[in-house]
Amino acid sequence: MQTRNRPLMIAMPKGRIFEEAVALLRKAGYPLPPEFEESRKLVIDVPEADMSFILAKPTDVPTYVEYGVADLGVVGKDVLLEEERDVYELLDLQISYCRLCIAGLPDWKPTRSPRVATKYPNVASAYFRQQGQQVEVIKLNGSIELAPIVGLADRIVDIVSTGQTLLENGLVELETITQVSSRLIANQVSYRMRREEIQSMIKRLKAVVEGKHD
Ligand code: PRP
Repeated sequence: MQTRNRPLMIAMPKGRIFEEAVALLRKAGYPLPPEFEESRKLVIDVPEADMSFILAKPTDVPTYVEYGVADLGVVGKDVLLEEERDVYELLDLQISYCRLCIAGLPDWKPTRSPRVATKYPNVASAYFRQQGQQVEVIKLNGSIELAPIVGLADRIVDIVSTGQTLLENGLVELETITQVSSRLIANQVSYRMRREEIQSMIKRLKAVVEGKHD
């Protein structure tokens, strides 16, 4: 599936990480066209950089990379932990910082094993198991904060960035499971077959990432 002749294919997450990832690539010297952000196209060729980009749903980025459709991908650590795909994690891009938290209504009193609503059923189950707590995990696909407000769940496990969504919905952050930032990931075969191009990209991105913190 991987050939040396095709452009380097990079899977990018549509949504909140996208703009920061594009800015990082530009700073690293990749000439992404100005219309890159506005386009509704899902595959964008950038022949000047000998690259193509796939715009995928964030949770699907590791899937495109694992199957070799994309050589590289940019994805949040939260998704990597949840999806457990066979990909190499190459670099912490130090963008899109947030945290994966347990949150809930401030006055909830446990009367039975709690129900926990989340987009991250694997991470949540593993975390509560480790803590020796029995919970019922309910998988939702978004607007997780709704679940405790309307009585579907007692707790949520979700991403907190500014904390505004929790605040506006009367919820409080109770525990941090892990800090999250975006990562550069690679397909395992591409990493061997296109090592030079990938190493050069890591080097360029690393220079920007490390420069940021000087
Ligand atoms: C994420 C997350 C929270 C919110 C946190 O949702 O699931 O709901 O952002 O951000 P904040 O702390 O800055 O308020 P997203 O916007 O990705 O949409 P979703 O709820 O549909 O998943």
